[in-house]
Amino acid sequence: MSSSNPLRDAQDRRLPRIAGPSGLVIFGVTGDLSRKKLMPAVYDLANRGLLPPGFSLIGFARRDWENEDFAQVVHDAVKEHARTEFREEVWQQLIQGMRFIQGDFDDDEAFETLKSTIQELDKAQGTGGNFAFYLSVPPKFFPKVVQQLKKHGLADQKENSWRRAVIEKPFGHDLASAQELNRIVHEVFPANEVFRIDHYLGKETVQNILALRFANQMFEPIWNRSYVDHVQITMAEDIGIGGRAGYYDGIGAARDVIQNHLLQLLALTAMEEPASFEADALVAEKSKVLGAVKIPKDLGRDTVRGQYAAGWQGGAKAVGYLQEDGIDPQSKTDTYAAVKLEIDNRRWAGVPFYLRTGKRLGRRVTEIAVVFQRAPHSPFDHTATEELGQNAIVIRVQPDEGVTVRFGSKVPGTSMEIRDVSMDFAYGESFTESSPEAYERLILDVLLGDANLFPRLEEVEQSWRILDPIEEFWDTHGKPAQYASGTWGPVEADEMLAREGRSWRRP
Ligand code: BG6
Repeated sequence: MSSSNPLRDAQDRRLPRIAGPSGLVIFGVTGDLSRKKLMPAVYDLANRGLLPPGFSLIGFARRDWENEDFAQVVHDAVKEHARTEFREEVWQQLIQGMRFIQGDFDDDEAFETLKSTIQELDKAQGTGGNFAFYLSVPPKFFPKVVQQLKKHGLADQKENSWRRAVIEKPFGHDLASAQELNRIVHEVFPANEVFRIDHYLGKETVQNILALRFANQMFEPIWNRSYVDHVQITMAEDIGIGGRAGYYDGIGAARDVIQNHLLQLLALTAMEEPASFEADALVAEKSKVLGAVKIPKDLGRDTVRGQYAAGWQGGAKAVGYLQEDGIDPQSKTDTYAAVKLEIDNRRWAGVPFYLRTGKRLGRRVTEIAVVFQRAPHSPFDHTATEELGQNAIVIRVQPDEGVTVRFGSKVPGTSMEIRDVSMDFAYGESFTESSPEAYERLILDVLLGDANLFPRLEEVEQSWRILDPIEEFWDTHGKPAQYASGTWGPVEADEMLAREGRSWRRP
């Protein structure tokens, strides 16, 4: 909350945000996410001095490990994936609070051990009873884990301490299952202690969308239907599904990425200015704009799904989706999805927002391109300007983080020839500060109880409202279009834009 003293508020915002006494329990600690993202994030936070000295990390899994084995796994994960340099003294302090608990999710004894371990850490490490439970497990286990936490008194909120639940996506499979899941979680944890992770919101460049729009004067006046022709939001990956067949098949690109990351990007790009940067104000504006998203009337025309076939990627032969290990050879799962959405409000009426995502595409890139209408009139003769594209502001989310503005400029010479040029802002050049990894930021926010960067149920529900009819349509209409690995997706997606006189950017 801001005080009545703006100077003090400004100073407070510059102080490092350091978590108070607390600990983190990770369920599913042997999984990929935990090894590649969560463990390194905890270490990086400790190394940056943002965790309390007695911070504790408890791993819970079936594996027959002792505390030392767990510490070794964390150590290896940190060495391999942490962003900051390895410092022995930080590591030595961190392992003081590391514990492993072996058990199944229905193993009452293991949950009792978890309880006594937390009590022990409260005494030995001064964690103050404050623990976040990170459910890095498939959604079918959420109900069991939260019920066990309740049964063993682990989710009880006390006057001077907190217990929080952190939930990884996918949050449900459709609107009905998301609501049911939510009901189960909220029977145990109050709404303000539930943190749903959408790691895109933890990315610096995604948070910068609001800074770009609302900390400046020059963008907002043209950020509307009077000037914008359309918006393209792309999240392209060059990787296939790797070892994630069990998770991915039956889920697909739209549920995996559009329902959460891309609709969040759309919300941040299109929302009205929030009254403040507090969670309630942000949620109110994001939900409002998601609520105004119109489901396309002609789903056959305005949506495309694809599935990668064999092809060449990065100079190597890549197998098709149906040949990947663990995939049903008849699978109709989408590995590419593109949708055209419109937003029914005064700012955006009639402006298409094209969203696309896919695996095994030309390269890994996420960007938001706001493409402007052509100038209403050009005083230069036609031949001099026909090379000119449309002006665009491109927010480069990753990997080459920054912002590009594209506009026409006179080519040096004796004639008035105009050509597209771009003006770039690159994080690496403008800042010496390094960006924290998304999970670092989000874990710190959980420990601080700061919910700004976490989607609330309303947003999750709105996103499923948008996606459910599209998925239902796809279920009953044939198969995904094929595209060769290493290309930019099915031709049907190009045709979708070409029909409207537009084309996808080739980032
Ligand atoms: C995850 C999806 O949410 O995001 C994955 O489940 C995807 O399929 C990943 O690969 C991409 O994340 P990033 O941060 O590498 O863009």
